[in-house]
Amino acid sequence: MKGASKTLFLALSLTLITVVHYTTRTDDPHIYFVHVIFANLYLVPIVFSAYWFGLLGGLLVAAASVILYAPHVILQWPGSAMDRASQAGTMALFLLVGLAAGHLSSMEKRERLRAERAEARSQRRAIATAITTLEQALKVRDSYTRKHSERTATLSMALAKRLGLHEAECEAIWLAALMHDVGKIGVRDDILLKPEQLTDKEMEMVRKHPVIAEQILKPIKGIEPVVAAVRAHHENYDGTGYPLGLKGEQIPFGAQVLAVADTFSALTDDRIYHRHEEVGEALRTMETMAGNKLNPRLFDEFKEMITETVSEVDSQQSYESGTHENRNG
Ligand SMILES: [Fe+2]
Ligand SMILES: [Fe+2]
Repeated sequence: MKGASKTLFLALSLTLITVVHYTTRTDDPHIYFVHVIFANLYLVPIVFSAYWFGLLGGLLVAAASVILYAPHVILQWPGSAMDRASQAGTMALFLLVGLAAGHLSSMEKRERLRAERAEARSQRRAIATAITTLEQALKVRDSYTRKHSERTATLSMALAKRLGLHEAECEAIWLAALMHDVGKIGVRDDILLKPEQLTDKEMEMVRKHPVIAEQILKPIKGIEPVVAAVRAHHENYDGTGYPLGLKGEQIPFGAQVLAVADTFSALTDDRIYHRHEEVGEALRTMETMAGNKLNPRLFDEFKEMITETVSEVDSQQSYESGTHENRNG
């Protein structure tokens, strides 16, 4: 039940109980006990409200019940001190039940939240340990891929933040970028480290790395979006990528962000099998990929981000060389 439906349920039940309570006769002993039952029915919305909304919810509905009940005491039991005392006891009971049920419910909610947080913390620790282990394995196997992955992770995170994504989404993209080529652990050394152009057969082996990565990462619970992004990091925006040939928005968004950073990182890294490109040259190469390999909107945002960073670094350097010259001069 949603919050609005809960509030509606409480309002309707309070109204209904008030109507039947006020309209049930009090002068006939056979009907009187029904009247008393109706009075105690106020406890139902009080307990429900406490369960749903905690201490404040319990007290609010208890107070509303007292306000709705009190005129009945004044109007229908004039002058009867004993009865009034009993009715006052009923109202005190409303408040007491609201307080106790609300307090218990709030305590239970706090406890549940604490347990959930502890569980999330231990899960994060387990994920971090698993990721560190994989990173170490990657470092031993192929230090280039590790460096490339760290760089891709930094760039992906920066782009994700710039796009205004939630912290959890940014973190998932960062993790996916860090692990995106972990499947290369499963590619033979003579292919992975070959300086020359790969043959079609060898290329086919390399192209298995997103699926191998998925198999490696899948047992780690709680990182499903990360695994989805890793598996899809070689899907192309126009549907010509692999392993599934997903197109446009079919590709997980994290994978689209990662693909942009991965391409830039691959173009500008010093790789065994091709020389690195300068930043401007890399961006020009990527421009030809926008719309086919890469999401054009994400590329534009990435280009802007890199251009801003480069001009910041340039101005910082020219400032530093300027102060240096002044000092020398
Ligand atoms: Fe890859
Ligand atoms: Fe990569």
